[in-house]
Amino acid sequence: MTIDNLKIPTVALGTWAWGDSGETGEGYFGSQLTQAGLEEVADKAHAAGFTLWDTALVYGMGRSEAVLGEVLKRYARDDYRLSTKFTPQAAATSDDPVADMLEQSLARLGTDYIDLYWIHNPADVARWTPHLIPLLRSGKVKHVGVSNHKLSEIELANQILGEAGFRVEAIQNHYSLLYRSSEDAGIMDYCRSRGIPFFAYMVLEQGALAGKYSPENPLPEGSSRAETYNGMLPQLKALTDKLASIGQKQGAAAPDVATAWAIAKGATPIIGVTKPNYIDGLVRATSMTLSSDDIAELEALADAANVNTRGWWEKEMQV
Ligand SMILES: NC(=O)c1ccc[n+]([C@@H]2O[C@H](COP(=O)([O-])OP(=O)(O)OC[C@H]3O[C@@H](n4cnc5c(N)ncnc54)[C@H](OP(=O)(O)O)[C@@H]3O)[C@@H](O)[C@H]2O)c1
Repeated sequence: MTIDNLKIPTVALGTWAWGDSGETGEGYFGSQLTQAGLEEVADKAHAAGFTLWDTALVYGMGRSEAVLGEVLKRYARDDYRLSTKFTPQAAATSDDPVADMLEQSLARLGTDYIDLYWIHNPADVARWTPHLIPLLRSGKVKHVGVSNHKLSEIELANQILGEAGFRVEAIQNHYSLLYRSSEDAGIMDYCRSRGIPFFAYMVLEQGALAGKYSPENPLPEGSSRAETYNGMLPQLKALTDKLASIGQKQGAAAPDVATAWAIAKGATPIIGVTKPNYIDGLVRATSMTLSSDDIAELEALADAANVNTRGWWEKEMQV
């Protein structure tokens, strides 16, 4: 049985971009990142009480985990929590590829346990889910969740874990104003009715909803996210303008409002944090209130943008 309940923060911290080299325009995000800058991000986050860090082996093939492990060295292990993932597509051909991938993550992160371990996608639910059971029993993994699984796959994973006395303790899916498939497919209702936390990733659509990128100032050229989003930026202007104007009334900015929207919908956003001042935005987001009119207007503008931001690694969520 799981030892203690998973404590759910209001927001979690994402580190996919930390897997890039840090050079402008290079890698998935192409943001400029330095070790000193990321240490400042962590210090600000911890001072504000945000201490759950999400990463994965495949974010820069080990780089995100290694950089995060290095940055978190400055804290006692009890002062933060780690969320990382088993990615089926990167599995080795050993006897237990899940245990092996976990061992590598533990080494890179400089720890002997992971607070929340995920199966990254539903490549083969019946094959991979059982591998979580010995990891839970050994205590190397405290809690488990599934990411990018649709409802029937979540139920299968839960059944497999349930037979061993465990359960799916968290869900992690793409969920933003522009991509509400988990809501439409009933996954968020499922989570709510069972008290399972729903973690939302890409709430800011990798920066496209942050309001600072526009056709005149596009996402960093050469990065993968630029390829996905730059062509959509003209259609997103009405929405990002609205996010900014709602924020202005409460001394907040567009990304804070997009984050507050996800919180208001019952999700725990995992926000990709690349700059220290983004933590101030998370503080504002967690203390904002959005009216039901604000929410309805934002969702109508998001629908009117008529863009599909489903990631290349994602499948349809509808059963
Ligand atoms: N399970 C999965 O399959 C999966 C998939 C995707 C992501 N994730 C997780 O979810 C996390 C979040 O997703 P993401 O990082 O891809 O995208 P995101 O959170 O939608 O966007 C992150 C980007 O938005 C910009 N940003 C963030 N806060 C901002 C602020 N306050 N003001 C202005 N700009 C801001 C930054 O861009 P700049 O650097 O350009 O400033 C940052 O790189 C990931 O880091 C990862 O941990 C999981």
